[in-house]
Amino acid sequence: MAKVSVRAIPNGPYEISIEGKPVAYLCRCGHSANKPHCDGSHKKIGFTAPEVALTFH
Ligand code: FES
Repeated sequence: MAKVSVRAIPNGPYEISIEGKPVAYLCRCGHSANKPHCDGSHKKIGFTAPEVALTFH
């Protein structure tokens, strides 16, 4: 089974990785115009949130 990781980038999106390779960046600030993907809007609004990392096997 592939190793899937989710990392909440500090003050940014969720980074989804498969076998260590990033495959998607998902919005967690709620302001992206291209949901569910991050479009960089979190920087404009000054979004702040801690880093969190989860790994699924
Ligand atoms: S986290 Fe990047 S636009 Fe929402």
